[in-house]
Amino acid sequence: MKTVISASQFTKEDLVRLLEASRKIEEALKSRRQLPLLDEYVLATLFFEPSTRTRLSFESAMHRLGGRVITTVGVQFSSLAKGESLFDTMKMVESYADIVAIRHPLEGASHIAAKTVSIPVINAGDGAGEHPTQALLDLYTINKHKDLSRYIRLAFIGDIRNGRTIHSLLQLMAHFPSELIFISPAELSLPDKYKEMLKQSRIPFQETENIEALLDSDVAYVTRIQEERFTDRSEYEKFKDYYSVDRELIEKSRRGTIVMHPLPRLTEVSTDLDNHPSAVYFEQATNGLYTRMALLLELLNVPLQI
Ligand code: CP
Repeated sequence: MKTVISASQFTKEDLVRLLEASRKIEEALKSRRQLPLLDEYVLATLFFEPSTRTRLSFESAMHRLGGRVITTVGVQFSSLAKGESLFDTMKMVESYADIVAIRHPLEGASHIAAKTVSIPVINAGDGAGEHPTQALLDLYTINKHKDLSRYIRLAFIGDIRNGRTIHSLLQLMAHFPSELIFISPAELSLPDKYKEMLKQSRIPFQETENIEALLDSDVAYVTRIQEERFTDRSEYEKFKDYYSVDRELIEKSRRGTIVMHPLPRLTEVSTDLDNHPSAVYFEQATNGLYTRMALLLELLNVPLQI
């Protein structure tokens, strides 16, 4: 594996290997063991859209592996603001770093970036397209709580049209026995290309507007209405508070539903759920550290010696 642009690139073997590596890394970090495996390497993080978790967990992952990080955050602080092309930017980054994680508002930007350079490129979110490394940490979290070898009913709730984390995770779930439930207003439903993928993978799925459908799921994956993807402000206003998952709702679950969220959250997950045993969204974000450490090692071809 040289790049991670789409979740479709991962085979089941890749996923099993990466989840196992992540588990070993988590164990090592919790035992306070040092893992200075990337001390000769530099990671560049290029974030042309806001981020807290993805950028900081990639940078923390590199630091905890003994490597170094260079970064540029926001178009206004890079020479893209002066009109430089992404091609020229990437050509420069290639000579400064050994691996790059890029977030960009344009769907497909990381694919363009990867074609420009010979170092590994990681898509850290491209517009409303995909977010494959988020899907990896989501899968790791699901496996910790629900065991992927067993049949899993996963409900996605919220902005399914624009939710790039959903677009990536559904492709990883296609490797495991699962059924997907998409809960959204019709206007924010799953794009046809992902429905086609699920049909080809023979993954059963249903679509509904009814939030109570999550009560029959093992995992409720709630997402924010993605304000930044709406061109029509009134459409965003119509949907921004459409759903709210709270303690009262989750306590009616018939399957011990856990609640996940890629974060940041607004009103779609009530804070009254934060201390409930079903709420795993903060742990989910922490898991990004372990999975991103595993991924950096994999892409740089450095064996995990533990
Ligand atoms: N989940 C996620 O991508 O969070 P950030 O936008 O904070 O990176």
